[in-house]
Amino acid sequence: MDNEGKIVEKLTVDLGENRYEVRVGEGLLDDAGKYLNLDRRVLVVTDDGVPAEYAERLARQCRAPEIVTLPQGEGSKSLDGLSRLLHAMKEKNFTRKDCVCAVGGGVVGDLSGFAAASYMRGVDFYNLPTTVLSCVDSSVGGKTGINFDGIKNLVGAFKQPKAVLADVGTLSTLPPRQVANGLAEAVKMALTFDEAFFSLFEKGNPEENLPEILCRSIACKIKVVEQDEKEQGLRRVLNFGHTLGHGIESLGLGLYHGECVALGMLPMCSEEVGARLRAVLKRLKLPTSLSFDREAALEAVLHDKKSVGGAVAAVFVESVGSFEIREIGEDELRKRLLSIEG
Ligand code: GLY
Repeated sequence: MDNEGKIVEKLTVDLGENRYEVRVGEGLLDDAGKYLNLDRRVLVVTDDGVPAEYAERLARQCRAPEIVTLPQGEGSKSLDGLSRLLHAMKEKNFTRKDCVCAVGGGVVGDLSGFAAASYMRGVDFYNLPTTVLSCVDSSVGGKTGINFDGIKNLVGAFKQPKAVLADVGTLSTLPPRQVANGLAEAVKMALTFDEAFFSLFEKGNPEENLPEILCRSIACKIKVVEQDEKEQGLRRVLNFGHTLGHGIESLGLGLYHGECVALGMLPMCSEEVGARLRAVLKRLKLPTSLSFDREAALEAVLHDKKSVGGAVAAVFVESVGSFEIREIGEDELRKRLLSIEG
């Protein structure tokens, strides 16, 4: 407990000189000045889907804030979005000593981090995620970037934040479908790393255990990132469910990312694990079946940048709390896509 009696959990990402702290708890947004150096020019980046007061509450604690509000959605993760942030920093005479703060979900975080990595070859970056999805996944680990020529995350940089503040109070305004969207990534972490954690989803009410779920997911992610910051091997485990999930997502059916990951995880499990996973996804009201064009999804998977010569490195779970990464070809991908109910 480090902010006036409110519970704040602190996790450390130990990356040598890029070491940083991730705090999860109540009231962190209003206490940001205690944890972050805001006594400088601060570009506060948010989007119009995030309550405007979050960015304003942060800006009030900054000596010289500049708020940029982007249109909500993946379209902002673009050269135009990047240009807007760089332009705002240039116009306000930002120097290398100034910083960027992201207040929002994954789009805001990924774009802001890349702007921070690029401006004057790098300024400090703080991430204040306000969605379950960005708390459990994208805010930690330093992947930043934009989409380019229709390919997700094609251009970017590894830029670790200086600190992450996940204020669970900001999650209370999220619609249930958005919460479930983020929990799909938490289920992914549990399924691949931690059977005891997975049983939290099988027994308890996940929405009531959000702080614990966030911390346990982030702890799993930290373990991976500390061993493989630049995704040379182990970090690929975080793509569990994403190989087929991205293929489904690319069809533009109006599903959220986590919903596509949920569908993408099912065919990559043993029968026994698949049954347990299906039950958990149903409890979370995440999809377990879908009617979609499997050939179009396969095409998208094969065109994904992770596909080399028709083979794709995919993650499999044979028993809960463990994983295996192996290459699979087009035929097996098709077979697994076909195994999705719907
Ligand atoms: N979201 C996957 C990763 O950070 O590697």
